[in-house]
Amino acid sequence: MILVTGGTGLVGSHLLLQLVRSGFAVRATYRQNSNLKRVEKIFAYYEQKSEELFGKIEWILADLNDIPGMETAFQDITHVYHCAALISFDPKDYDILHNTNTLGTANLVNLCLANNIEKLCHVSTIGAIGKSVNGNSATEENEWVEEDINVYALTKHAAEMEVWRGSQEGLPVIIVNPGVIVGPGFWEEGSGNLFTTASKGYSYFPPGGTGFITIGDLIRIMTGLMDSSLVNQRYITVAENITFETMLGLLTKYLGKPKPTKKLAFWQLHIGRIFDMFFCFFTGRRRRITKNSIKSLKTRGTYDNTKIKKELNFEFEPLEKTIQFCCTRFIEENL
Ligand SMILES: NC(=O)c1ccc[n+]([C@@H]2O[C@H](COP(=O)([O-])OP(=O)(O)OC[C@H]3O[C@@H](n4cnc5c(N)ncnc54)[C@H](OP(=O)(O)O)[C@@H]3O)[C@@H](O)[C@H]2O)c1
Repeated sequence: MILVTGGTGLVGSHLLLQLVRSGFAVRATYRQNSNLKRVEKIFAYYEQKSEELFGKIEWILADLNDIPGMETAFQDITHVYHCAALISFDPKDYDILHNTNTLGTANLVNLCLANNIEKLCHVSTIGAIGKSVNGNSATEENEWVEEDINVYALTKHAAEMEVWRGSQEGLPVIIVNPGVIVGPGFWEEGSGNLFTTASKGYSYFPPGGTGFITIGDLIRIMTGLMDSSLVNQRYITVAENITFETMLGLLTKYLGKPKPTKKLAFWQLHIGRIFDMFFCFFTGRRRRITKNSIKSLKTRGTYDNTKIKKELNFEFEPLEKTIQFCCTRFIEENL
């Protein structure tokens, strides 16, 4: 039986659909306030018999740091996909990020070892890949330097260290390092915010760019790696490196909004950061613009996907078709 952590998230819900479609017996973790209805909504995007497929999942209530709950979740499990994590770039969230992403992964790795799990697939991020210093695209081999790193990436890098520790102790592992994931249904969280932001029709775009991947490709890669004999490797999973201008251009095209035409200047980003800081201080909302996030909005980060293409013989799909599909769902649900 397969265990999926974070089954109620963007990656977890799409992975669950793929696994039950393929006929695997699957158990997934959820928490007290998890939104299971949203997982059903995701299934219904792709399947007419979504209720039947959703009914095949065995749900188990367990937080990553609830050891007795997680021990129960591990009963009769042979393979684990670890998709649960907290995504926040607010420095104030460091402790909860550390507890969830780093300590939570350490607990999971210990349970994998104790239960002789045959293979673990850990979902990391391109944020945990060392930065390129010579202007070339970053590869899996880049050295990790803890300078100008946001709190999320710090805790995800430390999580990878826990996974490598597990591999040293005999656990076969695979790590994927996705770029920004393009997928539907999570409009107010993580990468789903892209759609909400683009729908506001702002005339400005940030100057930099980054790596993107569709949710479909990421799931195909994760399941492909788990089915393969490849072990103890990490893979950058990025389909295309594009500018934020291009990405916002595609999003606004399919959302029926005007394309942003003015590049945000560095000083404008900093003024935005100060407004965001005050707004969050008074409302208690998570900060979205920090000094580090301005650096990444300003920089054109590019990532080399040669390793996964070669070793899994993988062809990435173009982003545009998935962007169009997501925008149609966004319009149906929000506009
Ligand atoms: N989205 C992206 O663009 C992106 C890019 C690169 C890497 N990633 C990585 O991909 C993975 C999945 O991300 P996502 O986009 O699917 O995120 P998401 O939609 O925010 O889902 C996160 C999942 O983790 C669960 N979770 C959070 N804290 C937990 C805890 N303490 N114990 C148990 N479960 C917990 C959440 O449960 P609740 O439903 O109860 O909150 C949810 O199921 C993460 O490892 C993330 O770092 C994401």
